[in-house]
Amino acid sequence: MHFGGLAALREVGLSVPEGEIRGLIGPNGSGKTTTFNVLTGVYRPTSGRVRFQGRDLTGLAPHEIAALGVARTFQNIQLFGDMTVLGNVKVGAHCRHRAELGGALLRPRWVREEERRIGERAEEILGFLGLSARRDELARNLPYGQQRLLEVGRALATEGRLLLLDEPTAGMSPTESRETMALIEKLRERGLTIILVEHDMKVVMGVCNRITVLDHGEVIAEGPPAEIQRDTTVIEAYLGTERRPTRRGKRAAGPRLLEVGDLVAGYGSIRAVRGASLRVDEGEIATLIGANGAGKTTTLKAISGLVPAQEGTIAFAGQPMAGMPPAAIVSRGIVQVPEGRRIFAELSVEENLKVGSYLIRGRDGLARRMAEVFDRFPRLQERRHQLAGTLSGGEQQMLAIGRGLMARPRLLMMDEPSMGLAPLLVEAIFDIIEQINAAGTTILLVEQSARMALAVADRGYVMEGGRVVLAGSATELQENAEVKRAYLGG
Ligand SMILES: Nc1ncnc2c1ncn2[C@@H]1O[C@H](COP(=O)(O)OP(=O)(O)OP(=O)(O)O)[C@@H](O)[C@H]1O
Ligand SMILES: [Mg+2]
Repeated sequence: MHFGGLAALREVGLSVPEGEIRGLIGPNGSGKTTTFNVLTGVYRPTSGRVRFQGRDLTGLAPHEIAALGVARTFQNIQLFGDMTVLGNVKVGAHCRHRAELGGALLRPRWVREEERRIGERAEEILGFLGLSARRDELARNLPYGQQRLLEVGRALATEGRLLLLDEPTAGMSPTESRETMALIEKLRERGLTIILVEHDMKVVMGVCNRITVLDHGEVIAEGPPAEIQRDTTVIEAYLGTERRPTRRGKRAAGPRLLEVGDLVAGYGSIRAVRGASLRVDEGEIATLIGANGAGKTTTLKAISGLVPAQEGTIAFAGQPMAGMPPAAIVSRGIVQVPEGRRIFAELSVEENLKVGSYLIRGRDGLARRMAEVFDRFPRLQERRHQLAGTLSGGEQQMLAIGRGLMARPRLLMMDEPSMGLAPLLVEAIFDIIEQINAAGTTILLVEQSARMALAVADRGYVMEGGRVVLAGSATELQENAEVKRAYLGG
């Protein structure tokens, strides 16, 4: 598969027997999502063919391929945010729908019958995924992990025989990932064939029968999990050595930089944060851990002014900040790297980085800062004229972090920086976080990988149900039995 001069896939051969769970792994930008896009007809391959149950799918339109039984989820969640949870699942069933416009308007008995069946099936899928209680909520109000599950639900509603899952557990806590693994196993028991793209090695090694590894658009290895895990080529290109970051001793305690007291914030009638207090001292790395939906992202958004603080106080460098518009907050030196890569899809990589540089004065500063970002993420330099929307998931994540770095803020708040990154790059990101901090930026980090986060942080907070339920030094939290059980995997 070529995009202009770039060969995203080079003669990839992949053959998956019915009933198998096949892992498809590889570094960021190696061609995994592109493979899915070719299999589902989003892109027509430059050369080569795709066969499914003996039929040639090459060149068919996406809806035709879906109707033949190939279902998928999207790496960058593509739900209908303003539709209910139930509605989103029903949309998935539409490719099995017989009713056309006329039928839908006149609603003869068989159309009503069909609607009833779709409704029942959608409810059953929500039950299977454990989302029944949220059926009437708007999809965009679900926490990230549940939006991912809902993506799976919509794919299941198409009643495909082959399910392509693109990073189903990205952004999930270890507990949620384990639950999702169990769901994937159950789908296999129901007779589905699955191709799983995923950077969480516990998940991949735990559920896959076989694994195919891509690098630079080529298959570099294929085999059962145990073999792949030992393969030196794969370790070098992708897995790394599971090195843990290490805290560089105690940082000198600076003056108080950020202080949040009894914060209450949310969306409409939903109170996502119900009384959170925390502080971050100048020069330190603080981390906020907790399950999906615990209120971590909303806390960051309230500090950034993106969600109004309904009650409580927020002070930055001794100045009250609650109620200030986001732009005023940024100009005081607080920058947030948002969860889920909110980059500007229609702008190039370079333009996105420039957008991040509004705090810099002078062109020299800008060029120097950009060179530093490219130095940390060479992939972004190679792709600097590419539209950000066409970057791979991991490349977009690098861009979101790079844009945050351009601003060189006094306080950098990062929401799930490791999400969607290949294992080797996760290690690199934590090194980068330490380097930025060493260069004088205070950091507030929200991370599902509590193990990594607590390893680099000085101070930590645990959130549950919108409240800070535990606070302490990172070392104290690492040794806390409850934290170990719930967030560090035993
Ligand atoms: N429409 C496009 N135009 C130009 N380049 C593209 C396009 N789509 C993908 N690419 C490039 O092709 C390469 C493969 O991208 P792909 O999304 O398949 O990677 P991936 O393996 O899914 O990575 P990740 O783990 O980061 O999601 C990337 O370098 C990406 O920038
Ligand atoms: Mg991808």
